[in-house]
Amino acid sequence: MRSHYCGEINAAHVGEQVQLCGWVHRRRDHGGVIFLDIRDRTGIVQVVYDPDTPESFAIADRVRNEFVLGMQGRVRPRPEGTVNPEMATGEVEVLGAQLTILNSAATPPFQLDEYSEAGEDVRLKYRYVDLRRPEMQQRLLTRARATSAVRRFLEAEGYWEVETPTLTRATPEGARDYLVPSRTHPGAFFALPQSPQVFKQLLMMSGMDKYYQIARCYRDEDLRHDRQPEFTQIDIEASFVSEGEVMALTENMLRSVFAEVLDVTLPEFPVMTHAEAMRRYGSDKPDLRNPLELVDVADLMQSVEFKVFNGPANDPAGRVVALRAPGGARLSRKELDDYTAFVARYGAKGLAYIKVNERDRGAEGLQSPILKFLPDEVVDQVLTRVEAVDGDVVFFGADRAGVVNDSIGALRNELGVDLDLVESRWAPCWVIEFPMFEEGRDGAPAPVHHPFTQPIGGVDALRDDPLAALAAAYDVVLNGYELGGGSLRIHDQEIQQAVFDVLKIGQEGQMKFGFLLEALKSGCPPHGGIALGLDRLVMLMTGTHAIRDVIAFPKTQSAGCLLTDAPSVVDEHQLRDLHIRVRGS
Ligand code: AMO
Ligand code: AMP
Repeated sequence: MRSHYCGEINAAHVGEQVQLCGWVHRRRDHGGVIFLDIRDRTGIVQVVYDPDTPESFAIADRVRNEFVLGMQGRVRPRPEGTVNPEMATGEVEVLGAQLTILNSAATPPFQLDEYSEAGEDVRLKYRYVDLRRPEMQQRLLTRARATSAVRRFLEAEGYWEVETPTLTRATPEGARDYLVPSRTHPGAFFALPQSPQVFKQLLMMSGMDKYYQIARCYRDEDLRHDRQPEFTQIDIEASFVSEGEVMALTENMLRSVFAEVLDVTLPEFPVMTHAEAMRRYGSDKPDLRNPLELVDVADLMQSVEFKVFNGPANDPAGRVVALRAPGGARLSRKELDDYTAFVARYGAKGLAYIKVNERDRGAEGLQSPILKFLPDEVVDQVLTRVEAVDGDVVFFGADRAGVVNDSIGALRNELGVDLDLVESRWAPCWVIEFPMFEEGRDGAPAPVHHPFTQPIGGVDALRDDPLAALAAAYDVVLNGYELGGGSLRIHDQEIQQAVFDVLKIGQEGQMKFGFLLEALKSGCPPHGGIALGLDRLVMLMTGTHAIRDVIAFPKTQSAGCLLTDAPSVVDEHQLRDLHIRVRGS
């Protein structure tokens, strides 16, 4: 039906007869001549119909936006003065001869170039129209190219793609499971995998040596702009590898994807420990494009009278930090109040600050509600430590360490954007030596990653103070997003048992993973791996801020699909077959 794609037509085709197919992007009637902008996935070309071809002209007169057309015509240069340098095909046009309407189209729910006024709900409901927009097509193309580059890279490294089940048992990645009722096992449910974690470990025990999968994962968790209930991981596992080897492989893979798809050379990946990341940035996924850093000042605040500061300064679980914001002295009262409200969302009880107007003038040159509580020499030492200069504001956070890290870490990100401090570059890094456990919701230890992560130092490290134990785990971070995470795994049944004990997973809980404990005894090689969020990777590569923009058919914030209206109520017969009675019905 077609000789060329619309977006391919250029000056080299002048004089050629071409056959094109596509959608009517725009139709303009210039009294006696009809211009049709015809669009396909490669771009737009202008086709002109004049009354010399009366039959086609009459058809061109009838078409409307989004009609699907087939046409034939001759490429010619655009007349002087009508060249459009904004368009790839802007030097030429096609003088249309034949024209066929392949399909008509209802009036679109929104104009493709005015989609932003349509609102996301409308875009998601009519996703097939939204996806016709060149911007959306480019994003999906980038995704396809990135996936292809990943596959080729890993295959060249000797990785085998193996599929793992999606009707399975619960996998422990910390979110709620999506459950699927079994018809053949009354009252029993499959879980959709939160990740292929357990299966990829079993594949190592099966001698597969190097595995990868572009794997769909399901997590029923609170959604954010960078999370979807159904998402895709680049999932990798290898036997007989060190942490450094998995990290090098990941780094090389990302390098090759960025080079191939974006023609970008990624810089070095600095490596920092989790402790360092929390100390300097208050976050385990620091955005290194932002130059701001948290500076500890608890030692200076231990004997001040200001209780807000001296309490946490003398508490081993507390933290007192200062954060210098260059140029922040110009912030208005209202802006400072807004930042105070912002940190309150992370549990901070206030946000003390000192504006540095003229440092040479001592206390006179400063402006702050807390100066009266702090001795001049303490203020001076703080300002020296953070290297404050005239025009800066210095913020303070004092509380339990967790609250300070969350709130001032978030403030750091916010200020970076508001004060225009975030550099325009790619800033990857590794965060290593995560804690094995954190305090869970019920106060008991919970795994920071998952319970199969190897503790640094083996069983001994778990004995005295499990909460202080570190994990052979690593996260790869890009521009402030957690792109991926992995670890060396436990391959020793005794250590696995010890971790279950710390997690207080009793016999009953262990039954869930009985098959894994059993397999660990069957000759399990040392192994490790990583999983990267493909959607997040493509989100960053395409410069969008919403993961929904790089997924063809995403879910809404409330985990529904506006297009198909899923999830939906099912009829009584289906429920009966599944041995289910819905409560309240
Ligand atoms: P983790 O839970 O850290 O590790 O997931 C790995 C990566 O998957 C992405 N990701 C998500 N992307 C979109 N929406 C979500 N809801 C979502 N949840 C996670 C993130 C994250 O870094 N089995 C381990 C990996 C391993 O140890 O090998 C795992 O799943 O980019
Ligand atoms: P207050 O004495 O509670 O009015 O607080 C004096 C100043 O300290 C105000 O600017 C508060 O915003 C700030 N502040 C209060 N609690 C904290 C805290 N935990 N961390 C940092 N600043 C705080």
